[in-house]
Amino acid sequence: MTSQQTSFPLTSLAPIGENRPGAEWWRTAVIYQIYPRSFADASGDGIGDLPGVTAHLDDLRSLGVDAVWLSPFYRSPQHDAGYDVADYRDIDPLFGTLTDFDEMLAAAHDRGIRVIVDLVPNHSSDQHVWFQEALAAEPGSAARARYLFRDGRGPAGDEPPNNWESVFGGPAWTRTTNPDGTPGQWYLHLFDVTQPDFDWANPEVQEEFRGILRFWLDRGVDGFRVDVAHGLVKTDGLPDHVPAVTGADGTPADSMGGDADDVPYWGQDGVHEIYRDWHRVLAEYDGDRALCAEAWLPTVDRTAEWVRSDEMHQAFNFPYLMTEWEAPAIREVIAESLRAFPAVGAPATWVLSNHDVVRHASRLALTAENPQGHGIGPDSPGKPLPEQGLRRARAATTVMLALPGSAYLYQGEELGLPEVVELPGEVRQDPTWFRTDGERYGRDGCRVPIPWTADAPAYGFNDSGATWLPQPTEWARLARDVQEGDPDSTLWLYRELLATRRAEDLGAGSLAWLDGYGDDVIAFRNGNVTVIANASDAPVELPTGTVLVASEPFDGGALPVDTAVWMLAD
Ligand code: NOJ
Repeated sequence: MTSQQTSFPLTSLAPIGENRPGAEWWRTAVIYQIYPRSFADASGDGIGDLPGVTAHLDDLRSLGVDAVWLSPFYRSPQHDAGYDVADYRDIDPLFGTLTDFDEMLAAAHDRGIRVIVDLVPNHSSDQHVWFQEALAAEPGSAARARYLFRDGRGPAGDEPPNNWESVFGGPAWTRTTNPDGTPGQWYLHLFDVTQPDFDWANPEVQEEFRGILRFWLDRGVDGFRVDVAHGLVKTDGLPDHVPAVTGADGTPADSMGGDADDVPYWGQDGVHEIYRDWHRVLAEYDGDRALCAEAWLPTVDRTAEWVRSDEMHQAFNFPYLMTEWEAPAIREVIAESLRAFPAVGAPATWVLSNHDVVRHASRLALTAENPQGHGIGPDSPGKPLPEQGLRRARAATTVMLALPGSAYLYQGEELGLPEVVELPGEVRQDPTWFRTDGERYGRDGCRVPIPWTADAPAYGFNDSGATWLPQPTEWARLARDVQEGDPDSTLWLYRELLATRRAEDLGAGSLAWLDGYGDDVIAFRNGNVTVIANASDAPVELPTGTVLVASEPFDGGALPVDTAVWMLAD
């Protein structure tokens, strides 16, 4: 176990822009998700911004990540924290300007950090000029054909065109009002009422998004994380969704939230043509630009369909994220991933947290059912035990960063931040909270601005002390500057893992399972490194060898419960 301050010089990346066929950077990269509104706020208005990102790039470099992905910063009324885009080619004044973006991008590239931006093609904001034109236009017009407008059902057309539900709760259709005040057509929104779905069968929509890709590729971005990449194409005729039935009691397998296999708006075959088209657009550019699919699909095998060699380059491994802290299940999803992704020529990816899920320092210690997107709050059953959650999170990350392929981190997990459970209703902002009348807490608990400095306003998030969501007082002791001085901190652990992963080239490695440790232990070898994680309820004997990194302070002997180590064999 390292017990003294060590500095980890970064080996330099290949120059940005160099084309390296066969050794593309995204095959092994560790990519850090910046949620701009909660990362760092240079303006002091309480919402993070692009100059705030630029100011902290050295901190990301010293952490040791290869790339960043930024959640949306485009012009937006912010009804879904920027995933409601009003202008895909401009920066929202909340976050800065295009010049701020260019400066951030150049500063990241100067430090060898690549930059992925978020693309939101399933829907726009209702304030997008196209949707405003559509509302003002006649039914059947070209302006309406860019979205999914339909007449209502029933004699007066006052029932929605089908029974689809919004992912955020409530119906997925909203009725418009004609200029003369009479009720008009309905439009589809799989998410909030302010997020109308595009009609991707329309060539004008397809051409518009080619142009948007080029706009950001020309500016120099290294790739795109593609929002709702499984949702763009809907079954012809927009039929009612009849949820699959499981079990003899006839319970639906799933609501309309997105993990069933037969939903008429998820995972339709036609969506793959769109990504083949985009693949060709990216291939016109040098520097191994990449597309990463945000596609919530029921299995790893389905997810791998998004990364066939002529489609996207990566897809988030949500089946891995959704796996509980149970060794057999973790081994199974790792094995499936290392079979299914390489089988189509893609790297496996790994992720434990993002801005849509309960942070893994809390999620891995939940004791009650918690469907994705529902969140946890003051009245949730089975609230996590903080010590157990953090311990498991550190062990889970220690496993994840030893795996071959590419891994995603979410801002704040390097500080061991837990989900903020005790947010009162009046500060919550996620549309899920409003659309379900508070029945689901939603995702605000993982989006609270992160702490940089214990002894500063807003823990160093800005100089003014304003924050768009309140930070818990316990976060003072989790601030980055406090952790800098503590070799046992989560920050030190992440740095050690990332430096060792790089030194041992684990991202490019391969995995061999180690037998003989029992069912509740995850044990494998990647190159020189042996990884052992104890998810059982008793200590586990270790082989002889040198411990390179341990997820908890560890003085040799048996491996404690909820702890993982990387070792060099003797
Ligand atoms: C997925 C994004 O990650 C989430 O934050 C957003 O609300 C939905 N897509 C809709 O864009």
